[in-house]
Amino acid sequence: MTEVVHTPRVFSGIQPSGGLTLGNYLGAIKRFVDMQESGIETLYCMVDLHAITVWQDPADLRHNTRELAAGYIAAGLDPAKSILFNQSQVSAHAELGWLFSCIARMGWMKRMTQFKDKAGKNAENASLGLFGYPALMAADILIYHSTHVPVGEDQKQHLELTRDVAAKFNHDFGVDFFPMTEPVIEGAATRVMSLRDGSKKMSKSDPSDASRINMTDDADTIAKKIRKAKTDPDALPSEAEGLKDRPEARNLVNIFAALNDQTVDATLADVGGKQFSEFKPMLVDLAVNKLSPISTEMARLMNDPAEIDRILGDGSARARKIANPILEKTYDIVGMIRS
Ligand code: AMP
Ligand code: TRP
Repeated sequence: MTEVVHTPRVFSGIQPSGGLTLGNYLGAIKRFVDMQESGIETLYCMVDLHAITVWQDPADLRHNTRELAAGYIAAGLDPAKSILFNQSQVSAHAELGWLFSCIARMGWMKRMTQFKDKAGKNAENASLGLFGYPALMAADILIYHSTHVPVGEDQKQHLELTRDVAAKFNHDFGVDFFPMTEPVIEGAATRVMSLRDGSKKMSKSDPSDASRINMTDDADTIAKKIRKAKTDPDALPSEAEGLKDRPEARNLVNIFAALNDQTVDATLADVGGKQFSEFKPMLVDLAVNKLSPISTEMARLMNDPAEIDRILGDGSARARKIANPILEKTYDIVGMIRS
């Protein structure tokens, strides 16, 4: 069989399940903007169907979806260049998600570390949606025949499963229909850690607000959180190797490098030898300079929710135009009558 060559197309998504963190920004949104500027077709989604795999208050969900859209736009995603939309408005995601639930195996899902983390000790009480989450995620990506997916480190396993779903579908039906999507996990901050504990991921669900920088934090709050961030007593090394067993130091250097669009090595060439008493104020200045304009713009955009809804509606219509023919073809391959 000749291999089908898929034109490059970028897809990624974030759950509107709470405020955006610096981890979301550096690990995901900032990378989304880079890919948008590379000229490839880009689609970025607010995955509201994924968010409800754990309880979401309806009013909060609505607010968080708009705030996430405002965050995307404020950070540099341009609705004229990228397709920005929310998942539930493009029903092809859920439909292909069902088909993939019949392709993916229980054993694959049971191995997913994000399910184990989120379900915790009481897995019997987790929603069925949380268990099947990766099948819907594979559908998000493959309904556009996406070739590249920018994400943070923590999504690597889900992207491997997406490839497994595509491969099994193609194999079972004897087609070369779905592409083998490439994860794009790049930059200096693919895994931003908690400011209070360098062994834990920075997360919107951490009970301690001091553990994270929220994209809506004002300059004073950002400064306070960085000043209080956990460190060690040593000066910064001049090479990345010296950060190996210093998770908190490494995290702050990674954050600095990513905010400054630099490599870690280039950053350490500048700041190597400095004490945290000197480095932290530099990080505060940089973080405030880079993040304040985004939070100010987010607040401005949130004053006009109707305009955000209009942008999402327009993006959804454009997304449906790509997704629906691929869904129809998939139904045909599976043997569904569509008259
Ligand atoms: P979520 O908030 O779980 O929907 O994550 C959305 C995107 O942000 C995914 O691409 C994640 O990999 C990325 N992300 C979330 N937290 C972090 C973090 N602490 N460091 C780097 N990337 C992150
Ligand atoms: N699972 C991702 C997260 O928790 C969110 C997500 C859903 C996603 N569908 C996606 C990311 C498709 C990339 C592509 O962060």
